[in-house]
Amino acid sequence: MYCLITGATRGLGKVLAGHFWQHGWSLILSARDQNVLNQVTSALGDRQGQSLNTIAGDLAYPDEVERIVKTAKSMFPRLDVLINNAGIQGTIGPLWENKWEDWQKTIQVNLLAPVFLCRAFIPWMKETGGGSIVNLSGGGATGPRANFSAYATAKAGLVRFSETLAEETKPFGIRVNCVAPGAMKTDMLGEVLQKGTAAAGEREFAHAQKVFSEGGTSMDHVADLVLFLATDASKEITGKLISAVWDNWEEWPQHLDELNTSDVYTLRRITGRDKGFSWGDK
Ligand SMILES: NC(=O)c1ccc[n+]([C@@H]2O[C@H](COP(=O)([O-])OP(=O)(O)OC[C@H]3O[C@@H](n4cnc5c(N)ncnc54)[C@H](OP(=O)(O)O)[C@@H]3O)[C@@H](O)[C@H]2O)c1
Repeated sequence: MYCLITGATRGLGKVLAGHFWQHGWSLILSARDQNVLNQVTSALGDRQGQSLNTIAGDLAYPDEVERIVKTAKSMFPRLDVLINNAGIQGTIGPLWENKWEDWQKTIQVNLLAPVFLCRAFIPWMKETGGGSIVNLSGGGATGPRANFSAYATAKAGLVRFSETLAEETKPFGIRVNCVAPGAMKTDMLGEVLQKGTAAAGEREFAHAQKVFSEGGTSMDHVADLVLFLATDASKEITGKLISAVWDNWEEWPQHLDELNTSDVYTLRRITGRDKGFSWGDK
């Protein structure tokens, strides 16, 4: 089985690489720094019958994303799973104080690059019998996240994109899901502490402090969920946003009917009627 993981040098991506490698997958690991990619692959070591490859490239540049696709196609006979894990916190602070180039870069890395990779790999997946795409969601996808407008916009966009793409690709045996990993003690969250309360705001800062002192979500548990979505264990599950912290996804295969005939675990508008407000009915 063949899988490409972006952002595989640190944080969750590195844990995902280890997890998939241990479970017998051939991998392409990508991130910007070739030296760090080499360190990650040497730590993983050799495993018989599996291949371990790296592609250094910066998702902030569309031509580099295109090169990643071309190189990946020359390394594998097919791609079973694409994990769009790479992400940046991006510009922090109120929108009008954000540099426009930084805001755009956050959208490019967190939204446009994953969309480009999906668009480029889907025809290949179609030709070779299907596949699974896992996109990493994040804070701001399901509610406002003040002082992180670029990140929140990108992640909300990525979730709705994934829901839409899931419908388009269903007839071809390609599934698309999003994972909300929960707060993890990684460099990305460390940036919130570095920026301080002035840019990030009291709430975000206190939250990051709490995660750093208490440890945050178990990345191994997130990796279990991503592996579940990568394999046939989750067949028929598509177009969903799944929380690694709050959702009992292990039991979902027994509830496929309800999952597939309702809008549970998707982004939707909440109305006054839903909340039982007396004025909510027309
Ligand atoms: N940490 C959290 O609390 C949290 C919460 C919710 C969602 N998430 C999401 O989970 C995913 C993983 O986050 P993380 O916390 O593990 O992040 P992280 O520790 O900061 O690692 C980010 C990874 O992405 C790569 N990367 C960054 N910029 C890149 C670029 N321009 N081009 C290519 N690769 C790039 C980094 O490698 P290089 O720097 O070497 O390129 C690194 O491997 C992200 O999508 C994030 O939005 C995280």
